[in-house]
Amino acid sequence: MAEKRMFIVLLGAPGAGKGTQAKLLEEAAQLPQISTGDIFRFNLKNQTELGKLAKSYMDTGALVPDEVTIRMVEDRLQQPDAARGAIMDGFPRNLVQATAFDLMVAPYGGVTVVPMIGVDDEEVIRRITGRRSCKSCGAIYHVLYNPPKVAGVCDKDGGELTQRDDDREETVRNRLFVYYKQTAPLIGYYYAKGLLAEVDGMQPIEDVAAALKALLKV
Ligand code: AP5
Ligand code: MG
Ligand code: ZN
Repeated sequence: MAEKRMFIVLLGAPGAGKGTQAKLLEEAAQLPQISTGDIFRFNLKNQTELGKLAKSYMDTGALVPDEVTIRMVEDRLQQPDAARGAIMDGFPRNLVQATAFDLMVAPYGGVTVVPMIGVDDEEVIRRITGRRSCKSCGAIYHVLYNPPKVAGVCDKDGGELTQRDDDREETVRNRLFVYYKQTAPLIGYYYAKGLLAEVDGMQPIEDVAAALKALLKV
């Protein structure tokens, strides 16, 4: 077997705070965030074929086909920054992806831990409707819960803050539906493997971050 790596799989509904926490953990854990949603959005922005394909699914809140997504993650894990492992944000997202991911990481000791960031549905809607992201660096804000210093402007690089296209109310409802139907079964899947760790996602951002760092011992 190759050298052991650390693979953290962040589970949680849309808007639970996976992206926010992954970015906060990157430095502490010395691991890169791998967000399939961010990779699709990057491709969309650059008008690649992958971006065009992904858009047709993302616009309705459906999942992009597994073959495409799994291949994309396989490629991403070959990058040198993933040589010690990764913080997975938004992948795996159904049982097919979870079994494929198990095979990908088996040579490195498998999935290390699966923090499940629990948040209730009304809070999901509040978080998603108030979310703003930086056009240039992807930093995540919330108009009430995590506002930038100057409205509409990124603290880090002065980039413009915009709303995601899939954060419209109808799409959010379908994303939640898809989450319960396809992603929530992963809670049982990882529980059965002894990897699930529940984290209270209803706390303020810093408290969720502290709980995750304590769990991961970073
Ligand atoms: P993706 O980009 O993964 O979206 P998602 O899962 O719906 O999750 P979000 O990014 O909306 O939420 P988050 O948990 O990251 O929350 P955030 O930290 O931003 O996927 C988008 C689409 O891409 C999918 O619908 C699908 O089409 C496609 N896709 C992606 N991965 C795929 C895959 N594996 N297979 C197939 N298709 C795939 O926080 C939300 C807001 O809340 C922010 O404003 C933040 O500031 C605020 N906030 C966060 N934490 C707190 C807190 N503790 N207290 C108060 N506010 C908080
Ligand atoms: Mg996200
Ligand atoms: Zn920025």
